[in-house]
Amino acid sequence: MNRRDFISWVGVGGVASFLPVAIAACSSQNSSPASQEWQKVGSLQELDRKGELLNENTSAGSVLVVGTSKSGNLNAVNPTCTHAGCTVAWKAADKKFACPCHGSEYEIDGQVKKGPAKKPLTAYQVKIEGDSVLVKGT
Ligand code: FES
Repeated sequence: MNRRDFISWVGVGGVASFLPVAIAACSSQNSSPASQEWQKVGSLQELDRKGELLNENTSAGSVLVVGTSKSGNLNAVNPTCTHAGCTVAWKAADKKFACPCHGSEYEIDGQVKKGPAKKPLTAYQVKIEGDSVLVKGT
């Protein structure tokens, strides 16, 4: 095998070994399995008692639901700040999410109200079914 054949052979081998990894990476981004399904994030009693409900372990990611069953205005977002990843807190009196790290603020629907964050929080659909609070990716 001469040098040119060897380089061609390694090149083909490299592409062949990288291809399955690339396909798997792309397919996992596109399939977002459970986030497209309604899933329980907590109980209605807990939401009504606190006015908010945080579940950091859903397959859709971390979810913060704010509101109560009586308010009829539930919102759910991923509370991970889009600036640098701190967890935002719900400020009910001001009706905003506030980040403790660098001061970003978000509207109740996750839109940026004040930087340095530039991107909105990820929002989820939310509903109440029986005694459960359910969310689903948008
Ligand atoms: S991490 Fe939230 S403002 Fe910087």
